[in-house]
Amino acid sequence: MSAEAVRVRGCLVGVGVGPGDPDLVTVRAVRTLERADVVFVPVSEGLPPPGRAEATVRAHVTHDRIRHVAFRMTGDADYDTPAVTVSQALREHPTGSVAFATIGDPNVYSTFTTLAARVRALLPEVTIETVPGIMAMQDLAARSGTVLAVGTETVALLPLTAGVDAYRRAVADHDTVIAYKGGRALPQVLDVLAAADRLDGTHGTAVYGACTGLPEEDIRPAGELPRDRPGPYLSTVISTRRRQWPA
Ligand SMILES: C[S@@+](CC[C@H](N)C(=O)[O-])C[C@H]1O[C@@H](n2cnc3c(N)ncnc32)[C@H](O)[C@@H]1O
Repeated sequence: MSAEAVRVRGCLVGVGVGPGDPDLVTVRAVRTLERADVVFVPVSEGLPPPGRAEATVRAHVTHDRIRHVAFRMTGDADYDTPAVTVSQALREHPTGSVAFATIGDPNVYSTFTTLAARVRALLPEVTIETVPGIMAMQDLAARSGTVLAVGTETVALLPLTAGVDAYRRAVADHDTVIAYKGGRALPQVLDVLAAADRLDGTHGTAVYGACTGLPEEDIRPAGELPRDRPGPYLSTVISTRRRQWPA
């Protein structure tokens, strides 16, 4: 029978493996990774493995069914080649499960979403599932003693790749504002917070976390950062309107 003639009814599971510290992985994630016929871990072209997801997976899984799937992250992102690789594994296990480990949560700004859509286009009968993961913003909140929201307070999460104006509007409109993908735009983020007096002022305070859970981790009040230097890609800033622990 040709590969195309095999009806693939297996399951592709996006498994959130947390922000970097292997302790921040759920029991369900570990069970799913242990049982999967194949566990894919992303590697960025040009960067040496293991990536962060792989390091976390290997801290929990001892089987030898872990495979690399390469992503090109510079220029135009390519999801078609990884989708073909993952589809091939699903064809090899037509009623089994193939896991894809992704940092944080698989439903928030994750490679998994586009990858799963491309795989479904190739194999329409595949079931897509996800296992939630702890997000970097949750890790940073816990590590810095930041209460994200109480009572009627609102929370906005936005990528700085959406532009600094969107971030400025969110700071005006919401009690807590979380900036993702803001490493390069860190000076502008700090300018917006300073202008709103939310850096370390009367209208709020802010905390910065880079590479949380990793050896190069940097967590500190955002007001202590140099105002003219970008941060790494793995940078998160949480700004709260509340200055103190809620009463
Ligand atoms: C493509 S998004 C991935 C988000 C991920 N799916 C999640 O649920 O947290 C990448 C952004 O997540 C944030 N991030 C992820 N891991 C981080 C970490 N260990 N420390 C700080 N920020 C992190 C950064 O803002 C980074 O630019």
